[in-house]
Amino acid sequence: MALHLITGGAGFVGVNLARRLLVDGERVLAVDDLSRGQLELLAELEVHPRFQFRQIDCSDPDALFDAIKHAGDRIAHVWHMAANSDIPAGIADPHIDLNRTFLTTFGVLLAMRLAQIPELHFASSSAIYGDFGELEIHEEVGPLEPISNYGAMKLASEAQIRAAVEAYLPRANIFRFPNVVGVPATHGVILDLIRKLRATPNRLEVLGDGTQKKSYLHVDDLIEAMMHISRLKGRYQVFNIGPTDKGVTVRMIAEAVRDRVSPTAMIAYSQGNRGWVGDVPRFRYSVRKLVETGWTPTLGSDEAVRRAIEEIACQEVGA
Ligand SMILES: NC(=O)c1ccc[n+]([C@@H]2O[C@H](COP(=O)([O-])OP(=O)(O)OC[C@H]3O[C@@H](n4cnc5c(N)ncnc54)[C@H](O)[C@@H]3O)[C@@H](O)[C@H]2O)c1
Repeated sequence: MALHLITGGAGFVGVNLARRLLVDGERVLAVDDLSRGQLELLAELEVHPRFQFRQIDCSDPDALFDAIKHAGDRIAHVWHMAANSDIPAGIADPHIDLNRTFLTTFGVLLAMRLAQIPELHFASSSAIYGDFGELEIHEEVGPLEPISNYGAMKLASEAQIRAAVEAYLPRANIFRFPNVVGVPATHGVILDLIRKLRATPNRLEVLGDGTQKKSYLHVDDLIEAMMHISRLKGRYQVFNIGPTDKGVTVRMIAEAVRDRVSPTAMIAYSQGNRGWVGDVPRFRYSVRKLVETGWTPTLGSDEAVRRAIEEIACQEVGA
């Protein structure tokens, strides 16, 4: 029964990961500064005897080291999920990505070095690649030219981790996530569209012309993939995680949300194929490297999106 530290533990992926580790019989220390994460999301976990939570800013290595020291046992794995997940916010104010994405990785690595924790699992992103258009993106493509500040800070975080593995960190896994969907949703296109429709049930305003096409993975498949990779033996491993299809359009998502939430609403698209500055309008993700290790997703993009719409619509009714 190992002790795992999850940073960003009160966020969407962190909560799902904690639940899974507890089901597997492990112990979890979750930390989060609650800048976007919410204590309510932890209600079900906090009653668990093998779960603890501390409110901490992970860009402060001393605070993090202190929490690690007082965790009650040696930590075997760090799952670094803390980051700014709001890409437009990071473009409006670059400090947000610097502090919450780059400096949290810096803080986590310093604290891990002090505490001699041997394994890091890092939530990176397809945003590190930049805009490759219709080209299939596999782990070896380059040059890597992220077009959002968020992607830039994720790529810089990967670089810090690679250097740490050279110097002192025994093992690291880099997970490059696509768009991940499911509950508890804290952000993302499905949540945005559902909230807009609840506010104005007759009209759904969509950012961009709806032709943006991306890969979507359900969070249950994501967690399975992370567990699978963590059991592989490499010292420094980088994997794209995603569905095996070519993705779905924003138009498909908007229509499915409308059909579920307010079927008579009119959908209004805006000009251009980018939802916001730094949005990569189309990407095709190769997950061949991961599939060759024996992992396959249970849902494609279309099914993942449809299931998540149902789940998030229920979440929002209860909100
Ligand atoms: N969900 C996706 O579609 C997606 C896609 C690609 C990558 N990722 C990455 O996966 C990870 C988890 O994303 P998520 O969807 O759960 O987002 P989220 O916003 O729900 O969770 C991130 C958590 O990090 C916390 N956090 C931010 N700054 C912090 C700090 N300084 N100290 C401590 N906690 C801090 C936030 O409060 C939040 O709870 C993030 O690193 C994100 O960049 C997510």
